Amino acid sequence: MQITINGEAFEVQSPPDEPLLWVIRDELGLTGTKFGCGLGICGSCTVHVDGVATRSCILPVSAAEGKSITTIEGLATVDDAGQETLHPVQQAFIDQQVPQCSWCMSGQMMTAAAFIANNPAPSEDQIIEAMGANYCRCGCYFRIKSAVAHAAELAQETAV
Ligand code: FES
Ligand code: FES
Repeated sequence: MQITINGEAFEVQSPPDEPLLWVIRDELGLTGTKFGCGLGICGSCTVHVDGVATRSCILPVSAAEGKSITTIEGLATVDDAGQETLHPVQQAFIDQQVPQCSWCMSGQMMTAAAFIANNPAPSEDQIIEAMGANYCRCGCYFRIKSAVAHAAELAQETAV
């Protein structure tokens, strides 16, 4: 089976019912995506599947075949000269000094990136609702909320 992650095609040896999370982490070595609950509850394993924030711990890898997967390693953009530009969400999480232990952070950022792509000027209530199902055991919720608002502003500035 072949899957496409961060624009690169990979031939996968895992069985079709293997959760995408373990293929990403164990078979392909992309360890930025984290295991939290394994039950689709906490959000720490969130990746994008065709641009939609998706919990990779409960998605069989076979369901990802033929789709475009993005992990935290592919969120930044790299130009032809190899210069990397962080995604506005990554920059905002740095600017607001959000992470503590950081375990939940790639899932938080992937959720936020998909959210602001569809809602470029979110209200505070919309941010709370969109991010509410991503748990942070360190309790960084206020900074996460601020960072998502800041990321939306950065994204609009860079789009101008
Ligand atoms: S590890 Fe996937 S939702 Fe918790
Ligand atoms: S920063 Fe530690 S779980 Fe969120």
